[in-house]
Amino acid sequence: METSNFVADVDATFAIVFWASVILFVGIVVAMVYFMFRYHHTRHQDAEDIDGHLGLELTWTIVPTILVLAFFYFGMIGYEKMERVPDGAMAVETTGRMWSWAFKYENGIETDTLYVPVGMPVHLKMKSEDVIHSFYIPSFRIKKDVVPGIKTGMWFTAEQAGVYDVFCAEYCGDKHSYMLTKVKAVAREQFDRWYRETGAQFAALAPKEKTAGQVDVAQLVERGKMLYRTKGCLACHSVDGSPLVGPTFKGLMGKKEVVIANGQEREITVDEAYLKKSIMQPDAEKVKGFENLIMTQVPLTEAELNAVVEYIKSLK
Ligand code: CUA
Repeated sequence: METSNFVADVDATFAIVFWASVILFVGIVVAMVYFMFRYHHTRHQDAEDIDGHLGLELTWTIVPTILVLAFFYFGMIGYEKMERVPDGAMAVETTGRMWSWAFKYENGIETDTLYVPVGMPVHLKMKSEDVIHSFYIPSFRIKKDVVPGIKTGMWFTAEQAGVYDVFCAEYCGDKHSYMLTKVKAVAREQFDRWYRETGAQFAALAPKEKTAGQVDVAQLVERGKMLYRTKGCLACHSVDGSPLVGPTFKGLMGKKEVVIANGQEREITVDEAYLKKSIMQPDAEKVKGFENLIMTQVPLTEAELNAVVEYIKSLK
């Protein structure tokens, strides 16, 4: 059993190219060595003038042409299959950004890991928030560029339960190698349960109508935590104090930091206003030592911003 529906075709195409190359390589080397001995000057002192050889010329024209057309044919039918998304495929919005992947399901679930049911076609609708990335699942033999301003997509059916690596296959900045995640392919019933239960959790976390000015802080923190993972904050900011690309979120609230604003250093105490400003206008006041790093402005709604800030506040 293969891991995905494309494995057999892609591997067959690769095998054809590989074995054709092996046969040609061996044939050419053998001919070369044979000529070295056969036409060595001790055995063959005078060069002959050969006008041409119709049979040979036809052979080295027709055989490579057939080979190239065969490569094209197998590549083409494989490509055609990959481009034609079957009806009823489960759509998953896939977002690439510096430097993480995010997935959004039709019922509102957002994750940083791709969960898929075995035996059901999945359609990844892909977009980029910044530069070109490339979504690559080697085990499934599929890869596609994720390009800002263009909607790309690809599909697959996982055929074997398991956990598979996802890479970014397009160099997209200095933390390109951080763009790792997993595809978890699980049995259909298990997936359906996850989809239902997690979907319900997400529905519960969605911002509710405020009842008489009441804000459920615990719920906001939970939502912030989820956004921290799905909006890609985790790629650069740790929550356990360990240094990553950006300052850690642990103990950030209330901390004294030296920031650089308009080229001037200034000491501040991190408060809610600073957090909000730094998330929405990353270049305004950067913590000293991190001033040369580029942070992408992550699109957040007002409610999402509040949730993230509440989450950072909770990391003491
Ligand atoms: Cu994204 Cu490399």
